[in-house]
Amino acid sequence: MQNSIDWANVGFMPRKTNAVAVSLFRDGKWSAPELVDDFKFSINVFAGSLHYANSCFEGLKAFRGADGKVRLFRPYDNAHRLASSAAYLDMACPSEEMFVQMCLSCVKANLEFLPPYGVEASLYVRPLLLGVNPQINLNSSTDVLFAVMCTPVGAYSSGLKPVTAVLCRNYDRAAPNGTGRFKLAANYAMSMHPYNLAHKLGYGELLYPDSATKSKVDEFGSSNFMAIKGRSYVTPLSNSVLPSITNRSLQQLAADEGLTVEKRPICLEELAEFDEVNACGTAVVITPVCKIDDRPALESPEVTRSYTFGSPDKCGETSFKLYKRIRGIQNGTEEDVHGWCVIL
Ligand SMILES: Cc1ncc(COP(=O)(O)O)c(C=O)c1O
Repeated sequence: MQNSIDWANVGFMPRKTNAVAVSLFRDGKWSAPELVDDFKFSINVFAGSLHYANSCFEGLKAFRGADGKVRLFRPYDNAHRLASSAAYLDMACPSEEMFVQMCLSCVKANLEFLPPYGVEASLYVRPLLLGVNPQINLNSSTDVLFAVMCTPVGAYSSGLKPVTAVLCRNYDRAAPNGTGRFKLAANYAMSMHPYNLAHKLGYGELLYPDSATKSKVDEFGSSNFMAIKGRSYVTPLSNSVLPSITNRSLQQLAADEGLTVEKRPICLEELAEFDEVNACGTAVVITPVCKIDDRPALESPEVTRSYTFGSPDKCGETSFKLYKRIRGIQNGTEEDVHGWCVIL
């Protein structure tokens, strides 16, 4: 059955598709994965995920290539990252193979929602790990639901149109020795309020400095920070940022293009020296950032300093080249020399 989705205006919101892939961990083992068409799960009101955020998740994309093949981009990397998040929560996690197979079966069951080649839309795949056993003590969950759902999505935020960002000094996303490097549901609750404040102020992105000293760049609210400085690709080395799979891919492609990759602490003052700045992540690959305002508080109108990068109208040249390369690999128009894609 072909559905009638307007692929050019698909937006970034969940849509009901055909099926979700699910498996339950109970009594020390995972149940055989199933595809279900009911998107409503009943869950015990005492489930730890509802009270103590015993929950972590992933986000990856499937693409329909120019050659008609369906590619999932680096799913083993997402499987690996989910395992590290689950280990922090002391929760069971599916094996990498089970993770990837369930992602593939979810995509296969929802192929009619996979946008055609040539549109900017893609199929976003969301694996979710949720503690479901009833509990009142603060404990790790013993029973865990693993669900993989998907939805077609268009460009998140602005696509490749540059946005402005604000440096968030009066709220922390991640504690210095906390959970910033894992993809826990709790992290997103931490950043919800400042994110809303930044959006109300008209900013497209929120840039967090490191929480301990507020002197170095960490990452954006839901994406990594990367910059181009001359012939270098510069990205923060920090224990409290999420290890972005997009960032790692862009670093490899930058190295392939002959750029020097510098993964190191970045002092805020160095922002003045960057030619191109981008937020990077699965949702859009890169979002160019044309200005970062330094505000002592998101509630106050005072801006102490503004940093500007490139044109307010278009993506920087080097960043665009990297964007084209990664999208080419995802679409099958460029050779996947690093073996990143898993073909359905
Ligand atoms: C906090 C945060 N940083 C970075 C990223 C980008 O990671 P990835 O490229 O793996 O999507 C995301 C999105 O998942 C995120 O939520």
